[in-house]
Amino acid sequence: MNIIQDPLLLQNELLKLKRRGKKIGFVPTMGNLHEGHLSLVELARQHSDIVVSSIFVNPMQFGPNEDYDNYPRTLEADKSKLKQYNVDFLFTPTNEIIYPFGKEQHTSVQLNRLTNKLCGAKRPGHFKGVTTVVNIFFNIVQPDIAVFGKKDYQQFLIIQSMVSDLMMPIKIIGAEIKREKNGLALSSRNQYLTEAQKDSASLLQQTIKEIAENIKQGDRAYSELIERAKHTLLSYNFKVDYLEIVKQSDLEAASPSDNSILIAVAAWYGSPRLIDNLEINL
Ligand code: PAJ
Repeated sequence: MNIIQDPLLLQNELLKLKRRGKKIGFVPTMGNLHEGHLSLVELARQHSDIVVSSIFVNPMQFGPNEDYDNYPRTLEADKSKLKQYNVDFLFTPTNEIIYPFGKEQHTSVQLNRLTNKLCGAKRPGHFKGVTTVVNIFFNIVQPDIAVFGKKDYQQFLIIQSMVSDLMMPIKIIGAEIKREKNGLALSSRNQYLTEAQKDSASLLQQTIKEIAENIKQGDRAYSELIERAKHTLLSYNFKVDYLEIVKQSDLEAASPSDNSILIAVAAWYGSPRLIDNLEINL
């Protein structure tokens, strides 16, 4: 595995390979890698000849009171995992390389739809940070395909829309959510939980699964389903940030006649804010 910090060097190496007809697949991450990230790498491998991954804890996508400083950084362990998965290139830039004038002064890219809902409504500026850094990475790597996890469903949809709006010749592939045996979606932020807390945190997924069961059985009283589930989550000690039933296509509130819907939830369980979702195709 080639570990590169210099964007121009990486770009040159990849352009050489592209000219030889190699298909480039890209998996951007913030590190602290788990099976979820590695499943993205596997998927990228299935769709390309050369797999490139990046590890960069992107300051622009963290709010002032979020966990940027404490975000788990485990570069050495991450490197050995990526090596085992035969990643060809790992890009590990610094803040100074990505934002030489500071994140406030940097040119930004912002999607004018989808970004003010769900996590976007609760984390102002978050998706601007995501689309900006992913744009920078896309320009360096110039991938043919890039893989994003559907655990961050809104992020996946926003990246897909950005690529389409800006006519970027990149195919975005969505990867299914990887979970612990108990159902808890894998996340770097699960590190903040003890084993016992992880077990109880799986109630987040169980609760949205129950909503899904009710919907599949014909219950379309969405507001009541949501209120009941919020109540349940509260009794399990979750502090709900949002719990919504929306359309998969645009994240607008779903109506009873919609067939492709998404149940999306964000809730604090102790210190970490956990997110999860479930797609329902009726
Ligand atoms: P990060 O949280 O490290 O996630 C990197 C990728 O892994 C994202 O596409 C995310 O959706 C995916 N992922 C995380 N947990 C997953 C799980 N349990 N199952 C499947 N996929 C999972 O998302 C980011 O970093 C950043 O916003 C980034 C895109 C790198 C831009 O900074």
